[in-house]
Amino acid sequence: MKALILSGGKGTRLRPLTYTGAKQLVPVANKPILWYCIESIVAAGVKDIGIVISPETGDEVKNKTGNGDRFGANIEYILQSQPAGLAHAVKISQPFLGNDPFIMFLGDNLIELPLLTFLTDFIQKQLDALILLKQVANPSAFGVAQVDEHGKVIKLVEKPKDPQSNLALVGVYFFQSSIHEAIAQITPSARGELEITDAIQKLIDTNKAVNASEIGGWWLDTGKKDDILSANQIILDTRLTSQMLGEVDVGSQVSGRIQIGAGSKIINCKIRGPVIIGENCYLENAYIGPYSSISDRVTIINTELEHSVILNDTKIMDIQQRIVDSLIGQRVSMTVSPKRPQALRFLVGDDSQLEIM
Ligand code: G1P
Repeated sequence: MKALILSGGKGTRLRPLTYTGAKQLVPVANKPILWYCIESIVAAGVKDIGIVISPETGDEVKNKTGNGDRFGANIEYILQSQPAGLAHAVKISQPFLGNDPFIMFLGDNLIELPLLTFLTDFIQKQLDALILLKQVANPSAFGVAQVDEHGKVIKLVEKPKDPQSNLALVGVYFFQSSIHEAIAQITPSARGELEITDAIQKLIDTNKAVNASEIGGWWLDTGKKDDILSANQIILDTRLTSQMLGEVDVGSQVSGRIQIGAGSKIINCKIRGPVIIGENCYLENAYIGPYSSISDRVTIINTELEHSVILNDTKIMDIQQRIVDSLIGQRVSMTVSPKRPQALRFLVGDDSQLEIM
């Protein structure tokens, strides 16, 4: 058994962050989304992992994630030279996959449940494919499955305008090597991609064993800002343990579950967990409210924030209103000076969103 994680794509819905970085490396509770995928695959006992990368962000993914040692896995990288679809990614990964069965995991998806139960089901029932489904309010944004009264998959359609069910395909799939023959028989869709949904449909049409499991627990597809904030909230809620490696002075009040990384200094602050603060941060006269993740080397002075994600090396000073529901990138500098500003001065990248309320 092997695993294939897809970590290419352009991440258009997460611009501007994805102009300079891979969407799969955006941190949730200070850890790249991609790493949660790797950890859940390793937890299911699968150690040989191929990660499909793009020319634009591949080096960053590779440098950050490494050869798998830190996860107890062997990681190989497979370059997909253009975003030609999920089935195309499987096609170019054939030399790595060989004839092994494999788990395919989209590197921007997170699911609550462990993979082992599904993997066992897939092996015991000798399935050609097992897909996971979840009811959603906006099925048109996903691959959609039509399932009969016995739970058998009848039809799959990628992003249908007129969805026949509210069951979306979750970005985690289990395949036998028969998927390669199915992929060889499909042609690019209207959007010019080799769709994995079409390949699975081909398996169904040729009477292969394709099952679906409707999953419980949460599923997050972290393609957009609000999805990142929800993922951050859920992970902090369910998986954060308290750890205090930095220094908190006597003038500060901390309550709830809080993690503070080595080298960080907290002076005269109020922090209400769950909150994670990375390494070498400097916080002074700040309020940090629940569901906030602050990455490494961030400075926050005279500012209140909550339910927000702040990336590395950002500096926020003297902001008068509370910052809420925000996703702030790396190396950003934000300040309001003097206390009652007469004017606002910005240097803001393409596709940024500023709401002054
Ligand atoms: C992909 C799949 C889609 C699936 C979704 C889950 O879409 O094509 O079938 O429902 O992932 O995240 P994408 O996110 O690439 O638009």
